Formats: sequence, C-alpha cells, structure tokens
Amino acid sequence: MAETGKTAKLSFGDKELELPIHSPTVGPDVIDIRKLYAQGDVFTYDPGFTSTAACDSTITFIDGDKGELLHRGYPIDQLAEKSHFLEVCYLLLYGELPSASELEDFESRVTNHTMLHEQMVYFYRGFRRDAHPMAIMTGVVGAMSAFYHDSTDVSDPWQREVASIRLIAKMPTIAAWAYKFSIGQPFVYPRNDLDYASNFLRMCFAVPAEEYEVNPILARAMDRIFTLHADHEQNASTSTVRLASSSGANPFACIAAGIACLWGPAHGGANQACLEMLREIGTPDRIPEFIARAKDKNDPFRLMGFGHRVYKNFDPRAKVMKQSADEVLDLLGIENNPTLQVAKELEKMALEDPYFAEKKLYPNVDFYSGIILDAMGFPTSMFTPIFALARTVGWISQWKEMIADPQMKIGRPRQLYVGETRRDYVDVEDR
Ligand code: ACO
Repeated sequence: MAETGKTAKLSFGDKELELPIHSPTVGPDVIDIRKLYAQGDVFTYDPGFTSTAACDSTITFIDGDKGELLHRGYPIDQLAEKSHFLEVCYLLLYGELPSASELEDFESRVTNHTMLHEQMVYFYRGFRRDAHPMAIMTGVVGAMSAFYHDSTDVSDPWQREVASIRLIAKMPTIAAWAYKFSIGQPFVYPRNDLDYASNFLRMCFAVPAEEYEVNPILARAMDRIFTLHADHEQNASTSTVRLASSSGANPFACIAAGIACLWGPAHGGANQACLEMLREIGTPDRIPEFIARAKDKNDPFRLMGFGHRVYKNFDPRAKVMKQSADEVLDLLGIENNPTLQVAKELEKMALEDPYFAEKKLYPNVDFYSGIILDAMGFPTSMFTPIFALARTVGWISQWKEMIADPQMKIGRPRQLYVGETRRDYVDVEDR
C-alpha cells in the first residue's frame, strides 16, 4: 500500500481526527479508517459496502465508468481474444502470464486432477433426483473437505496449492455430474486428452451409447464464457469467500460458501433469471409491457441481465459475449429462435429508453451468456453452475492472496443498532 503523506481531516463534536490516505496503483484514493473507532469512538455506516475497500488486492481492477476490466493489468478483451481459460487461471493465481513450459506444467497438473474420488458417486446419489445443480454443487464442493483431508490445512502453502489445483480441475466434473444426475443419465468420466472446455462439454453431453464429437467452435465459446467469468474483484461471492476464510475455514468450505452466495438472482443467478424472463415475455409485442413494469416504482420486477453495481457505462465482458453469441447462433443456425428474437428486440428497446439511459443500465454479461448456453443445449438450471465453475479460480486467487496477507484479520463488520434498549424479561403468564 503506497503511503501518500496525504491525510483526510474528520471533525465531529469536540474531536478532530487526521486519517491517512493511501493511493492505489490505479483507481480512487482510500481513506484509512482502521483506527477510527479506537480514536473517535464512532463507526462508519456503509450497507452494501458501496464506499468501502475491505482489502488490498493485486488481482483484478475494474473501472466501472470507463467499462474496463483488468486481470493483473491485462484487459479482459485481449485475454478473451488471445488467451484461453487455463492460461488466465495461471495469470490470476500466480500474477504473471506463464512461459510455454510453465503453462504446459500447469495444464498437466490440472488435467491430472480432474477425476473425483469414486466414493463421491454415492454422495451424488443421496440427492433428490430433481435437485437444482447449484444445490448439488454447494453440497459436493463443501463435502470435498471430507474426501481430501490432505489439502485442508490452510497454514501450509503446499496444501493450499494442492487444494487450488484440485478445485479448478474437479469443478467441471462436479458441475457436469450435477447435470447428469438431474437428468438421470450416467456420469461421464473426464478424459485427459481433451482441453478443459471440451472435456466439460463432453462430460455434459456425451452418453455411453454413442460417440460424442466436441465441436471446436462451441468449445471455444465455452472457454470464452469461462474466461469472461474468471474473476471480478470484490463482488458478493468473492467477499463471501474472503469472509468465510478469514476465520481459517478450509478452502472447500469457503468455496462452497461462495457458490451459495453466487446462486442469488441479483448475482450469478441472473443468467438463469434472464433467460426465464425472455421466455416469459415470449414474443416481441409483449416487451413494452415488461419495460413498463421494470420502470414502475411500485413493481419489484427488474429487467434481468440489465444493470451492474460497478459498470455504469458498459460491461466490457458483455461486448465480447455478444460477439460470441453471434458466432454460436450463426454456427447452430438458430437465428430465428423466438427467445433470441425477444432478446434482440428487448436490448434495442431498453437501450433506446430514457429510463435505462439515465440510470446507466446496460445489458450485462449475463444477458448474452444465457443466450449462448441455451443455444448450446444447457438447461437454465445449469447456467449458474457454469458461472460457479468459471469463478472458482477467482475465488481461489483471492483466497490465496488473503491468506498470504500479513494484515489478514477475521472479518467482523459493525452495525448501527436500532433495536430495543435493555429491558427486563417478562414471564409468559404476564405478557
Ligand atoms: N431493471 C430496472 N431498473 C433497474 C435495474 C433493472 N435491471 N437495475 C437497477 N435498476 C434501477 C433501480 O430500481 C434503481 O432505481 P432508483 O434509483 O429509481 O431507485 C437504480 O436503477 C439503481 O439500482 P440499484 O439497485 O441501486 O443498483 P445496484 O448497483 O445496487 O444494483 C444490480 C445492481 C443488482 C445488478 C441491479 O442492476 C439488478 O438487480 N439487475 C438485474 C439483475 C442482474 O442482471 N444481475 C447480474 C449482475 S452481473 C453479475 O452478477 C455477473
């Protein structure tokens, strides 16, 4: 953290405090309020952490106004175009792009950890057959701590490394098996001669009765979806992982907590919610009705796939995803699909509507990813598991960074208490 010598003065009552200001390498300065309570006997109030930096980090930078997303300094559009998911994983985890031999070594370590402990099959079978794949993933990833004891000691850097590789390697198998279980098909085991995305597609769509050939354009689109979701600095699920791990919990438990948080419709669940909304709209002539509902203050309905907490100009991932969507739909020849017609028309009408322009609401990455995944043949219930699979590397990179940080403390937010003051217990017969 760079010391700037600058300070902020805060005066209230008879107190005057001087608070240090730190400068990031890029982005707004940060007022350091760590000693505020000790020196001023006050807390700060910031529900939703809209103005609060909870850590320092070197992994990802977002400029929401410029619509910029950098991983270790590299712009996401360059990574999406020139790199591929496992290389981006290496970059996020270790801070630099790998040399050819480093990449080969990393890919082989990941590839050699793709199988699940065979006893985990029984664990899957314990779920109801109609369980949501996110419910299965939350359970199975949490249960990994019961299967891989030798990588749960967070104080051992080697165990942390093994846990990281295991999670990145096994997540496609875990997600694909959650899907296979939910549709009553046999589990397809990973194949180490396939790349990461092709392997995942095969584990999802192959059946033992016939050969399955992975289409390279679909594999590339899948890999791009993974790359675009790999990390997004201190979002809700990442902060959940950091908060869970601040207590020293094992990595599998922490990532399971991240998956649970991601499931919500305001976060990773938005891609499922978005496609369901497009289907509910059904035909382009019903769009104005839904736009009117989204604008109505008395209606809780929101246009799913629009808006973002940080991007108030455009989501740079959405740009790349839109291009990918065009490629995939072209390849599959499904330009006249009714959901797609609704999506295209809705995008156009919302972008032209002053309400969305004034509030800076643009289609986010989930708006387009749902369309691609649907075209590939994934049911909506698999959209968020795919996001979780891809985000695992981001969660792990942030988790590793946090554990290695000497300033790490257990996370413990304060509160503005507005409940009853002290009162005496009243016996039940007297109430
Ligand atoms: N449709 C209609 N109005 C909206 C939408 C939307 N999708 N999003 C925000 N608004 C409005 C709000 O009603 C609010 O209006 P007001 O100022 O008149 O009260 C204003 O825009 C600001 O909205 P906030 O909720 O304060 O913005 P915030 O930054 O907290 O929320 C969020 C961001 C949660 C993503 C929101 O835009 C939303 O709910 N979008 C739909 C869900 C979605 O697509 N989530 C995916 C996020 S991307 C991801 O997780 C990968």
